[in-house]
Amino acid sequence: MANSALNAQKATTTTGIQDIMANNRQWVAAKNAEDPEFFKRLATGQQPRYLFIGCSDSRVPASGITGTGPGEMFVHRNIANMVVHTDLNLLSVLQYAVEVLGVQDILVVGHYGCGGVAAAAANKQYGLIDNWLVNIRDVVRLHETELLRIKDEQQRLRRLVELNVIEQVRNLAKTNIIQNALRGDKPPRLHGLVYDIADGVLKDLQVDDSTAIRGLAHIYGTEVKPLVAAHHAPAPPTAKEESSHYEGALHNPSQVAAEPATA
Ligand code: CO
Repeated sequence: MANSALNAQKATTTTGIQDIMANNRQWVAAKNAEDPEFFKRLATGQQPRYLFIGCSDSRVPASGITGTGPGEMFVHRNIANMVVHTDLNLLSVLQYAVEVLGVQDILVVGHYGCGGVAAAAANKQYGLIDNWLVNIRDVVRLHETELLRIKDEQQRLRRLVELNVIEQVRNLAKTNIIQNALRGDKPPRLHGLVYDIADGVLKDLQVDDSTAIRGLAHIYGTEVKPLVAAHHAPAPPTAKEESSHYEGALHNPSQVAAEPATA
């Protein structure tokens, strides 16, 4: 291979990572010049105030759009900022952030122009990713009436982005991690935000104060009982205890009481 061809190949295969390495050295130098204790302090541990759940989209960097630096924000990102109850990755991040780090604010951050949301709204198949997008299609199903009233397609997609964020905040509130935290001394506040790629502005959808979150406890806020070892297991419940258990679960004692009459 001629030298020039070799150099050209080298340039295309190594420039990207060389840029990253050079940027890193510059960043380290700048940080040390600004604050000589910066890295020493971060190395001792983290106590971030925020948990950020956002989209993987490269145009929505968690720290950049929120003005936070290293140590201030715990981050989880996936396609279309979803909170899926079978996602062990999300659940592990959430449990660690809430129960160990004690974050005070959890931000679900969607963005207008989200490719994941647009793909979910289109009536097409994309392969494996359809199994992820189905969770956004559930949001479409839940809010179909409102969405169909919006004639302009772009406006309809923008509203779907907002509704998706609201539903993901609700999905957070449904987890036993958040339900338990809401009963504790310092429950984290849940926020639904939408970022606009076109102007860089974050909008607060004000989901936190909605009774839609706290009002979920009668369905999702299951009572925590310590596990009892088999040899310490209590005697089976009496008929009276059993009936009060069902009443508690259903939160509708009159219906429970009426049941035997119809049986
Ligand atoms: Co997106």
